[in-house]
Amino acid sequence: MKRTRIRDIMAGDAIGQECTVQGWVRTRRDSKGVSFLELNDGSTIKNLQVVIDEEYHGGAAPEQQLANGCSVVISGRLVSSQGKEQAVELKARSIEILGEAPAEEYPLQKKRHSFEYLREIAHLRPRTNTFGSVARVRSEMSFAIHRFFHERGFIYVHTPIITGSDCEGAGDMFTVTTLPLENVPKNGGEIDYSGDFFGKKASLTVSGQLEGETYACALTDIYTFGPTFRAENSNTSRHLAEFWMIEPEMAFCDITRNMDVAEEFLKYIFTYLLDHCGDDMDFFDSRINRGVKENLANIVQSSFERITYTHAVELLSKTQAKFEYPVQWGLDLQSEHERYITETVYGKPVIITDYPKEIKAFYMKLNDDDRTVRAMDILVPRLGEIIGGSERESDLGRLKQRIIDLGLNPDDYWWYLDLRRFGSVPHSGFGLGFERLIQFVTGMQNIRDVIPFPRCVKTLDF
Ligand code: 4AD
Ligand code: MG
Repeated sequence: MKRTRIRDIMAGDAIGQECTVQGWVRTRRDSKGVSFLELNDGSTIKNLQVVIDEEYHGGAAPEQQLANGCSVVISGRLVSSQGKEQAVELKARSIEILGEAPAEEYPLQKKRHSFEYLREIAHLRPRTNTFGSVARVRSEMSFAIHRFFHERGFIYVHTPIITGSDCEGAGDMFTVTTLPLENVPKNGGEIDYSGDFFGKKASLTVSGQLEGETYACALTDIYTFGPTFRAENSNTSRHLAEFWMIEPEMAFCDITRNMDVAEEFLKYIFTYLLDHCGDDMDFFDSRINRGVKENLANIVQSSFERITYTHAVELLSKTQAKFEYPVQWGLDLQSEHERYITETVYGKPVIITDYPKEIKAFYMKLNDDDRTVRAMDILVPRLGEIIGGSERESDLGRLKQRIIDLGLNPDDYWWYLDLRRFGSVPHSGFGLGFERLIQFVTGMQNIRDVIPFPRCVKTLDF
């Protein structure tokens, strides 16, 4: 018999129908000659209650093997349930155990395990409510993101993962090499990459932006959505060494339209989530972070505050609030500062623009004051920065000078400079950290719990 997904059973009016379900037993309860199984197949957070009573004709499976974690095929009849937890339940006629899960060894016995423990069994944690919901939300959000750009005529461009250029100019890159690590060839003290796989130094990309710009400067509106890598030594609840980023890049677009698109984009995907992930969002709202749904609904209705970096520094300087890091014009904002502004001052997302050029990447367009660049960061309550973007420097001379000023080599960026040499256009873009987004919308505390297999400093369990 064809498999019916539990999600479809829960959504439809299937009472009286015969069906076959396949899934994993979450729990089993026995009382007076009747057994109840909670069955989950991952199609929804909801479990299907299976009743094993006199209608059950038995089968290959002795009942005692029906333990938590085993996989089963169950056929039977859907009936309306007496219990108040669910409207429908399955009266089992036949049960086949596909894979047993010996109770004394199965690591997911308790109802609730700590997230720390579950990180150690990342191969089994998708079988819990939380990680099932995170996985479904990630999937739905990915779809919503593609849909947003597709509806607006953006072209999805696949930028490379292995790269020869450092996008952020910060040097936090992982090297990709086939050189023998026990005997690295050197030339005058420097590593000699001429015998390496690419014949030069190569790294994992920190951003698809630079390559994305080449396509925007031909196709006008493009976006990338792919993995990025940062060898930052940041052991926090908001940093990963491998994370996914969405980076739209738009030609003929200034910083103001860039901000408009980013704001519309976030509101669109939040709305999509509230409309399409009701059961999972109810779970996050009741079990993980109370109020997370209402927050999203409020943000969709709000208009994001837009302030300059200079104004942000003024706000931070005049408050009585105590910060660990100093506040001074010219210094970067730390997450405590960002959170103060978005949570305490405004209570909604804030876009900060016009940062000092010294603390931002070389590609950002210089303002006429010669001190600040047309950067824009979007901050949200609880997390701080979720989006970083800018208008790009489109003037060849100024861009070259910025590269030199920051101690980078213009020769490494010859193709990037060519975009300004031939048919240069004003253009802008931004990057949304996908895991920060998932953290924000689910209310999950730690970024390691919103990506299937987290990679962070000193942690590579899987
Ligand atoms: O602000 P960032 O470094 O900007 C860029 O990479 C630009 N090239 C984007 C662009 O203009 N196309 O990173 C963008 C976003 C951050 O706002 C944050 O959400 C996320 O990426 N991010 C991280 N997420 C998880 N772990 C990390 N280590 C992250 N670093 C940045
Ligand atoms: Mg940033």
